[in-house]
Amino acid sequence: MLSYRHSFHAGNFADVLKHIVLVEIIQHLLKKDKPFDYIDTHAGAGLYQLNSEQASKTGEYLRGIAQLNPSHWPELSQYFEVIKSFNRANELNCYPGSPLIALELMRKQDKAWLFELHPADFELLKLNTKKFSGVKTRQSDGFKGLLSVLPPTSRRGVVLIDPSYEIKTDYEQVINYLHKALQKFASGIYALWYPVVDRYRIDKMQRALLRMGIRDIQRFELGIAEDSSNVGMTSAGMIVINPPWLMFDKMALLLPKLAKILSGTDNVFYKCDILSTE
Ligand SMILES: C[S@@+](CC[C@H](N)C(=O)[O-])C[C@H]1O[C@@H](n2cnc3c(N)ncnc32)[C@H](O)[C@@H]1O
Repeated sequence: MLSYRHSFHAGNFADVLKHIVLVEIIQHLLKKDKPFDYIDTHAGAGLYQLNSEQASKTGEYLRGIAQLNPSHWPELSQYFEVIKSFNRANELNCYPGSPLIALELMRKQDKAWLFELHPADFELLKLNTKKFSGVKTRQSDGFKGLLSVLPPTSRRGVVLIDPSYEIKTDYEQVINYLHKALQKFASGIYALWYPVVDRYRIDKMQRALLRMGIRDIQRFELGIAEDSSNVGMTSAGMIVINPPWLMFDKMALLLPKLAKILSGTDNVFYKCDILSTE
């Protein structure tokens, strides 16, 4: 039984990090005319109303995207342009999820594969993506779905793996499926999102990834508070395999600035590391 709904969390600090990294990767893929595939294993509904009952209840976006003034972040202009395209001038009423962010940037030669299990969010996803071409939406398990579409015919692409970790086995599943996916599509760019609720789970996940001998892994993490095992999510991270060239340098400059604004303190919580080299 799936109870997680992303509408409670859309636009929070974790989404900001995830979507900045996603936009960077897609911008890199767009540098060549050759088509690419976007695979989103846990797509969500695609678009979120920030004045909905769910978003208002948690107010998470107020401590996330609403804290960032686009004019202060020229290096993130593409990310803010995408958000702007779903809103009226100078308003922030809607926040696009990963599939709509990707689709807004993609071209007619590119393809998207979107997996979402929740029946209500799947219906919304279909509705929210219907004006785009080259999109396949599936109401099925994203881990199995991923393996079924690899390698993509374009032989270029990005896979976003963004489970809610509602089911604790997801921490192991993501690593097992990444391993299998890399065997089918070694040159793909993989972006794995994780929440820091219990640090030990993340350390364990990273050790497992490194034990598999996977090369070229970078980790970008952004926090709003110190690690603690009793206050929920304090940080969130993205593990990127085969990251675009220069992404590390950009994130190294960006993360301390973002961490300062989003935590609202001078105590910055972030990580920017090379977990394994090429
Ligand atoms: C964190 S949300 C996705 C947010 C989205 N990627 C974004 O950035 O806008 C995780 C989604 O995965 C869905 N989900 C959970 N288990 C799944 C599975 N095994 N396969 C596909 N979707 C799943 C949930 O219903 C939820 O909508």
